[in-house]
Amino acid sequence: MDSFEWNKIFGGLLAGLVAVLGVSIASDMMFARHAPEKPGYEIAGAEEAPAEGAAAADAEKPAAFYLASADVAKGEAVFKKCAACHNAAPGGANGTGPALHGVIGRPIASHAGFAYSDALKGMAGKAWSWDEMWAWLKSPKAYAPGNKMSFAGIAKPEDRAAVIAWLNTQSASPLPLPAAPAEEAAPAAEAAPADAAAAAPADAAAK
Ligand code: HEC
Repeated sequence: MDSFEWNKIFGGLLAGLVAVLGVSIASDMMFARHAPEKPGYEIAGAEEAPAEGAAAADAEKPAAFYLASADVAKGEAVFKKCAACHNAAPGGANGTGPALHGVIGRPIASHAGFAYSDALKGMAGKAWSWDEMWAWLKSPKAYAPGNKMSFAGIAKPEDRAAVIAWLNTQSASPLPLPAAPAEEAAPAAEAAPADAAAAAPADAAAK
């Protein structure tokens, strides 16, 4: 074999390498992974803190779970967000919003002298149970569309529970807080990250 022959062989090999490299670069360009700029789903009620709300929305348990261990002292601090419009003291007057003394357990839209919206008046057959209050404070807009409380809601379930538990103390006859429900959802919630981890290597190998 003369050197000319060898040149052809090396030339061929080189051309092959370049072709393989080229295809690999081109396919990288074609199939580059892009994280979506915007997640393809919306999290309702997460207006206050989207990042935190996103995690909380996935993991959120029933109201009773948070109420059972609610931090009443923290609730008093959370109520500062409400105090511009609401008075929770005994005999407190209506302000921008209705007086809230004794509101837990009270029929919805029932405080004398307050001009409720039709949206809330339409719910007057119900009372402010734990679950009703939970849904209302999570997202007033979603709970009673067209109501006139200009408040986005409390995204963090712990804060929501705290202020509800505190409101309950602002009453002549506070109700016993609900008991924590039995834990069943926990194993499923823990299985999710494990699944994700198992999927990751396969994902990487496919690249
Ligand atoms: C910007 C003023 C404003 C803020 C802030 C606000 N609210 Fe209200 N709230 C209102 C108004 C106005 C209404 C009456 C809504 C209607 O009639 O549609 C209302 C209604 C309510 C009701 C229904 C009471 C009833 O008698 O049926 C509850 C409960 C309530 N608010 C709790 C809260 C809590 C708790 C907070 C704080 C986490 C809060 N609000 C923050 C203005 C406000």
